[in-house]
Amino acid sequence: MKPIIRPATEADIQPICELVNAFADQNLMLHRTPEQVRRALGDFLVAEAEGKVIGCGYLAYLGPDLVELRSLAVHPDWHGQGVGGQLVEALVTMARARGLRQICALTLAPDFFVRQGFRVVDRWEISPKIWSECVYCPKFHACDEVAVLKDLFRK
Ligand SMILES: CC(C)(COP(=O)(O)OP(=O)(O)OC[C@H]1O[C@@H](n2cnc3c(N)ncnc32)[C@H](O)[C@@H]1OP(=O)(O)O)[C@@H](O)C(=O)NCCC(=O)NCCS
Repeated sequence: MKPIIRPATEADIQPICELVNAFADQNLMLHRTPEQVRRALGDFLVAEAEGKVIGCGYLAYLGPDLVELRSLAVHPDWHGQGVGGQLVEALVTMARARGLRQICALTLAPDFFVRQGFRVVDRWEISPKIWSECVYCPKFHACDEVAVLKDLFRK
């Protein structure tokens, strides 16, 4: 059955945490607590198939014009079937509808994002992210993540 992409609800908090934290345990992304997910619930989308959450991602506001795509994850059983691409497309549409001008991500999978229309940038191009979070990260001076950015509107 083809997955559907929909806004997250309270019942999705636990499955989202399980999905994201399984990848976080492999150092592929950051861990999320149920409380963090609850606070961001209105900004989360999930992919659902056969009654289960099989993918997720959310938008975190970094400024009036810039939003970050975070916690993008697809269950391994569903990899390579377009679910990640569908989630990115839906989150980009959501960011555009909310009037944001740019969407960014810090990722270990830059090629995946480039295929979704993002471009690789110097991380200082997303400086609100760097100043608000990265400077506190223990890996700040040895960060292996790549910054990617997509313009949503031409000025
Ligand atoms: C990255 C991820 C979300 C992609 O989800 P998906 O549903 O498999 O994505 P799609 O099916 O839309 O696209 C798959 C394509 O992306 C590519 N891809 C997947 N992970 C990749 C990675 N780490 N680096 C580069 N390309 C990657 C695949 O090779 C595949 O290419 P193909 O179509 O030529 O075979 C998924 O692999 C995942 O959950 N990974 C673990 C968590 C993670 O790394 N999240 C992103 C961090 S921000």
